[in-house]
Amino acid sequence: MKIMKIFLATNNKGKIKEIKEILSDLNIELLTPKDLKIKFVCKEDGDSFYENAYKKAITGLLQTGYISIGEDSGLMIDYLNGAPGIKSSHFAKKKNDEENIKKVLRLLKGVEKEKRKAKFKCVIALSLSLKKVKFFEGECEGYISEKKMGDKGFGYDPIFIPKGYNKTFALLGEEKNKISHRAKALFQLKKFLKELIS
Ligand code: IMP
Repeated sequence: MKIMKIFLATNNKGKIKEIKEILSDLNIELLTPKDLKIKFVCKEDGDSFYENAYKKAITGLLQTGYISIGEDSGLMIDYLNGAPGIKSSHFAKKKNDEENIKKVLRLLKGVEKEKRKAKFKCVIALSLSLKKVKFFEGECEGYISEKKMGDKGFGYDPIFIPKGYNKTFALLGEEKNKISHRAKALFQLKKFLKELIS
C-alpha cells in the first residue's frame, strides 16, 4: 500500500518532536522542511491561532505540494488578560524562550498562586487541498510557577504546571504528550487521518 506523506509546516524543533511522537503509530510519513531540504517561510500575521494555523497549512501545501499540517499555539495568562497569546514566541524584545520566560516571571512577580492561572491553546490546520482545510483544537489548563523548573521540552515548558500536577511540563517530559494542548488537538487529527487512510 502506498504510504501517505504529510508535510509538517514548521521549523520549531520542539513541535516537530512532539508531533512525530504522538503520530508515530499512524501509517503516514511526516516530512519536515529539513527532510525536503527547503526553508519553510510563513509570516505569522494573523489575528488568531486559527488564521495562523491556516496560513501555515496553505503555505506548506503551496510550497511542497503535499498535504500539510499547520500548527499555531500559545500561552494565555489570566493575570495578563490573555497575553502573550498569539504573540507567545516573540513576547520579549529578544525573541527567545529564555527571555520570554524572564518577562513572564517578571510580570507575575509577587502574584499569588490563585492568580497565576494560565492555559495553552493549540490549533492544527490540515490542508487536504487549497479549498479543503480541516481544523483541530486543544487546550491545557494550569498555572505559572514562581521559578523555572526542568529542562525538557521547549518554550514556556519550564514555568507551566498543568492542572492536577505539581511539576512543570519541562519536568514531566514524555507525560506531556498525553495531556498537552498539542496532544489533545493531535488525538483528534489522528482519528480523522485513520478514517481517511482506511
Ligand atoms: P508559534 O505557534 O510559532 O506562534 O509559536 C508558539 C509559541 O508558543 C512557542 O514559541 C512557545 O513560546 C509557545 N508554546 C506553544 N506551545 C508550547 C508548549 O507546548 N510548550 C511551551 N511553549 C509553547
